[in-house]
Amino acid sequence: MSKYHIQGLEEYFQVYRTSVDHPEKFWEQIADEHFSWQKRWDSVLNWDFTKPEVTWFAGAQLNITENCIDRHLATRGDKTAILFEPNDPNDPAEHITYTQLHKRVCAFANVLKDQGIQKGDRVCIYLPMIPELAISVLACARIGAIHSVVFAGFSATALSTRINDASCKMVITSDGSFRGSKTIDLKGIVDEALDQCPSIQSVLVARRTHTDIQMKEGRDHWLQPLLDKAATDCPIEVMDAEDPLFILYTSGSTGQPKGMVHTTAGYMVYSAYTFKNVFQYQEDDVYWCTADIGWITGHSYIVYGPLLNGATTVMYEGVPAYPDWGRFWQIVAQHKITQFYTAPTAIRALAKENLDFVEAYDLSSLKVLGTVGEPINEEAWHWYNDNIGKKQSPIVDTWWQTETGGIMISPIPFATPTIPTFATLPLPGIQPALMDEHGKEIHGNQVEGRLCIKFPWPSMARTIWGNHQRYKETYFSAFAKMYFTGDGALRDATGYYRITGRVDDVIIVSGHNLGTAPIEDAVNEHPAVAESAIVGFPHDIKGNALYGYVILKETGETRNHNNLRKEINQVITEKIGPIAKLDKIQFTTGLPKTRSGKIMRRILRKIASKDTSNLGDTSTLLNPEVVEEIIENALV
Ligand code: PRX
Repeated sequence: MSKYHIQGLEEYFQVYRTSVDHPEKFWEQIADEHFSWQKRWDSVLNWDFTKPEVTWFAGAQLNITENCIDRHLATRGDKTAILFEPNDPNDPAEHITYTQLHKRVCAFANVLKDQGIQKGDRVCIYLPMIPELAISVLACARIGAIHSVVFAGFSATALSTRINDASCKMVITSDGSFRGSKTIDLKGIVDEALDQCPSIQSVLVARRTHTDIQMKEGRDHWLQPLLDKAATDCPIEVMDAEDPLFILYTSGSTGQPKGMVHTTAGYMVYSAYTFKNVFQYQEDDVYWCTADIGWITGHSYIVYGPLLNGATTVMYEGVPAYPDWGRFWQIVAQHKITQFYTAPTAIRALAKENLDFVEAYDLSSLKVLGTVGEPINEEAWHWYNDNIGKKQSPIVDTWWQTETGGIMISPIPFATPTIPTFATLPLPGIQPALMDEHGKEIHGNQVEGRLCIKFPWPSMARTIWGNHQRYKETYFSAFAKMYFTGDGALRDATGYYRITGRVDDVIIVSGHNLGTAPIEDAVNEHPAVAESAIVGFPHDIKGNALYGYVILKETGETRNHNNLRKEINQVITEKIGPIAKLDKIQFTTGLPKTRSGKIMRRILRKIASKDTSNLGDTSTLLNPEVVEEIIENALV
């Protein structure tokens, strides 16, 4: 029985059982049968969650781009690998075949080498969703450079923090980017960031918007002339299984973003395997994930997972509402998309618009619909199922994280019966556990707890760049010998999982993970602010929005409060990016605190969510009187 492609519920249960009873044999067979290796491994798995230390396929040698590109050339050379759909619907789509992709990745890899980039060097990629983004990711991987893609919506400060954390040697960017009717000055943001980045030696600039930009002599180079001169063949760098493939930053509960490190072989095996099964990809399918490659979803399920399977993967440069709210459906119809993968926040925004935008297009090519990034509410699920899938296309509600590298809990379409709001069952190899507040595993069904994973899986992040201690504290300390996800979940009577949301200080806004601490740090930088606390509250489209409670230094601050609110959001935009702006800002004279000085966010969250009926016992607070004041002035 091939374990690579699961095609029914019975088969899923069988395969799952094998993956738990014989995990090493299970993954070894998949690794043997579906990938090219330069050298086979010495051992499949070594692990110790107390250190924590995990290796998969130790001793093996490979290059992931050989698996993504070269090995498809003989059979799929003329097949479209990347289908680029530009921002402007009047511009033609670009079909990049596997043969062309090979040439373009090789040429780019040669440019990187000419610029002095070597195996192990970190390269920061700050690009819009244009082909150069996927190509530069693969070019890094081809020569063993570690890519660190930073979402091109982040501010100059956020960019420089990430560049410095990994001491990147190079930035790859573009003159500007198109987002709907807007043009964004990306190079200007990079220039500002690089004032603070001593490790950067060179900047490669792709031309996209033809905006007038500054080029710094000796540091900045236009990409195209270098590519034009480069040879279109470049041998692979032979990598060890556990060599880092990339760093990707995610927000944490404390200030500094966490640079999650993913390594080569395990990530390859798992991203490929999950792509095949969760999307049931068939040879002539055209798969589209609407995420940005700046997030893990784009890494695993726009670039690596699809290309490892020889798929056609769509990259869309623009936004859902440009030129109108029918754009996604126009693209589905135009390219006969078969699998469509998006975020609940996008579904909710689309569902608010007139159905004519959907009905104008033929969506009959669709076979599988996916969601990711946050819990999907029942209403959005039904809208998606009724209007997009016409009740014919199963919805895969995929739960996973930047840290997990690949999808962990998800239905397998046409096999697992779906229920709205349930991510359903763990994929093969994934052993979830629900834990109670005393650190004990909760067995049985119809239970709820903190979601942990008790056995390693191939694509788990191995560390936080430069800070293994933080990795250990964040993920392996809350519960002994378990990976703690930071999420809560319940398991229903049939064993299905439903993710209930974060149980830490991370808030998911429009599918973006935001830590409260970095936003508070930014707010506190405003000269008029003494202290602040940020919490989330439910929002129709974004899932959650941000509510800030702010104490001003001068209680008699005479400036107009609305101006102050604008200024505070401006600081957040500069320090982090517009995605972290606060929807509501309440000025207050105090924040509820425990006697040890900890802010009682639970109370603030309830007030922001208009749920003040049961605030619990506030008498033990250091300053119980402040709660009344906050309720009275709440912006709800
Ligand atoms: O809280 C969970 C939520 O998103 C978090 C991970 O965010 P990030 O690292 O940015 O990766 C997002 C894309 C994989 C999780 O801890 N989350 C993700 N998918 C789901 C989800 N919550 C509920 N249901 C999901 N399907």
